[in-house]
Amino acid sequence: MRVVSCVELGAPEKLVLEERPDLSPLPGHVLVDVKACGVYFVDTLMVQGLYQIRPEPPFVPGGEVAGVVRAVGEGVESFQAGDEVIATPGMNGFAEQVLLPAERIIPKPAGLSFGQASGFYQAYCTAQFALDNRAALQPGETVLVLGAAGGVGLAAIDVAKQMGARVIAAASSEEKLAACRKQGADDVILYSEEDLKLRAKELSGGGVDVVYDPVGGDFSEPALRALAPRGRHLVIGFAGGEIPTVRWNLILLKQCQVVGVDWGGWGSRNRDENTALFDGLAQRVGSGELSPVPPTVYPFEQAAAALRDLMERRVVGKAALEVS
Ligand SMILES: NC(=O)c1ccc[n+]([C@@H]2O[C@H](COP(=O)([O-])OP(=O)(O)OC[C@H]3O[C@@H](n4cnc5c(N)ncnc54)[C@H](OP(=O)(O)O)[C@@H]3O)[C@@H](O)[C@H]2O)c1
Repeated sequence: MRVVSCVELGAPEKLVLEERPDLSPLPGHVLVDVKACGVYFVDTLMVQGLYQIRPEPPFVPGGEVAGVVRAVGEGVESFQAGDEVIATPGMNGFAEQVLLPAERIIPKPAGLSFGQASGFYQAYCTAQFALDNRAALQPGETVLVLGAAGGVGLAAIDVAKQMGARVIAAASSEEKLAACRKQGADDVILYSEEDLKLRAKELSGGGVDVVYDPVGGDFSEPALRALAPRGRHLVIGFAGGEIPTVRWNLILLKQCQVVGVDWGGWGSRNRDENTALFDGLAQRVGSGELSPVPPTVYPFEQAAAALRDLMERRVVGKAALEVS
């Protein structure tokens, strides 16, 4: 089998394609033939040595894949050969095969392609956890989504609309805003050109109830300033590179909440609740209530190009590597 290996930290162009021996099932494990590898912002950080988890090279990046079960090890009853699944290795996903304990394998939601499924789990669980568990979003409330045409951003539009909220999507190009509208956004802001705070206040009739912020940097403060009294600012991530600082008097005066969101940490401490959260999402995909967008697909050999495009904000929506 082939893997995409990070042999030296740095630019994605340093990744190399390597041939490795095929994997064999182990007791309690599931062997999956990978059809598509989700490409996440975290992968771009990991290969540069900029993520909070810093594996020593050589290592294989890739946190989430979708594929078909080839074989199961002794004692595994929950899956069988031929099942279509999502696997969440955390690392080692840019590979033609993955071998994981059965509890790291999830049935692929009905109706999703392998490409869609390879970017579904983290993005949608993050959006659901943030908007429901952390913000207690209510029908009729208004959500401002930053980086709205990115992976977790588009998922947030979809989940928020399904929860009955009104969505204002902010992104950096007309093409990205068109994708947000297609996903269901009611209004859009070109935050690279328009005044984010003023436009968000105008469009929401005075202030938004929830800000969903995976970008950070210079956009966080104007977004916080666009909150209505008792609004909630969800801190999702810092794709813009800079971790913002906000003066606490602003939080006092606005009577708002700044709410940290760490879905991964919560999910690993609350496995049963996380399983229930995912099952709910999978059901809503099956019934057509949620519609994850198909990803931009790159051949497996072009992992570096996918990571580069993501780093340079050229990808609209999710990216995936296709294993042919
Ligand atoms: N807290 C959690 O539980 C959790 C879970 C999953 C992911 N995350 C975090 O959420 C963030 C977004 O993840 P994602 O998978 O949605 O990433 P993504 O698909 O790359 O989207 C990120 C968006 O950020 C915007 N952006 C602004 N400045 C950027 C820059 N300098 N480089 C790249 N993008 C920039 C881009 O939109 P525009 O071009 O429109 O500005 C881009 O679409 C990451 O920091 C990730 O670690 C957090």
